[in-house]
Amino acid sequence: MMNKQKKMNWLSTTELVNIAANPTHQTKLLAISKLDFTRPFIPEQFTQLYYTPIYQQLTSPQKLRYNQLFAVRTNEYIMMLESDLVDHFLVPLRKNISIRNDQELVVCLENMIKEERLHYQGFLALNRLCLPDTFKDGRERYFSELSVQNKFAMYLLELLAHKLTFPLWYIMALEESSISLAQSMLRTPETKNLGKLEPQFASVHKEHMKDETRHLHTDRLMIEASLSKTNRLSSWINARLFKFMLKGLTKVTQTGSGAKVIRMLVKEMPELKPLKQEMLDALTELKNNAAYQQSLFSRSLMPLTFGIFDETSQFSDLNGYLVGYDRQQ
Ligand SMILES: [Fe+2]
Ligand SMILES: [Fe+2]
Repeated sequence: MMNKQKKMNWLSTTELVNIAANPTHQTKLLAISKLDFTRPFIPEQFTQLYYTPIYQQLTSPQKLRYNQLFAVRTNEYIMMLESDLVDHFLVPLRKNISIRNDQELVVCLENMIKEERLHYQGFLALNRLCLPDTFKDGRERYFSELSVQNKFAMYLLELLAHKLTFPLWYIMALEESSISLAQSMLRTPETKNLGKLEPQFASVHKEHMKDETRHLHTDRLMIEASLSKTNRLSSWINARLFKFMLKGLTKVTQTGSGAKVIRMLVKEMPELKPLKQEMLDALTELKNNAAYQQSLFSRSLMPLTFGIFDETSQFSDLNGYLVGYDRQQ
């Protein structure tokens, strides 16, 4: 397979600032008033149970509702970047010496922060249409609410963002995978088992791509400035922390967001109670499921991010942390 990153025409900060000012390249908030609940919201391969044998035991209405609930969780994951990582990492990152010395890069970062806050409102409005009872009374997140441990990790990120910038690799991977999800919705609107995707839900993801495509270029410039040009010790520490972070990101637990989706499904469909524990157990098996792990991180989902990994000498052993990583030089 060709390394797409080598062929990529990367944009400069000047080009990014100019493109960001052009309304045709800006993500807009869409006015959606209704969703068709007879349709799935996301491609089945972007859900967890799809990779487990128990998925085949679910009836079509059960699979459909699982898909819709998981899609809300997927939106919340994107929103986690757009709020938690924006507030606790991207905002303080403006003080990082490698970033703040480049005025145009600061403008790109500030545009990105502003745009992520707008996207957050768009996904929140979409989730409120999906689950009005869950998100009433001002509640904004359900599946992805941060644990005390993760809140503490965010606090540390905020304190250290001027020195430790390893979350940039994760942000780039997350942004590129949100683009791949939207592209998959556009290219293959027909799902394997559940019919055609809900078009309004897909339209929000399609619109999201406009800003995100630019953000990948900003990510790469920030990685270049703050991670590629640092001393060996700092590069080693950042790479170690990123690999440590990956361990948590690729593990599926019985208390995490995916398990919360199953619990809500069983609450809505009590006939699934006898299968509940089996479904939760199936989630923990996903740690060793190569196809599922590649649905999180793979070259086909995030070719540009993987291209950056290929160029990073500290990632020569990254396949020990990411099942989907196939190093290319
Ligand atoms: Fe976004
Ligand atoms: Fe973004």
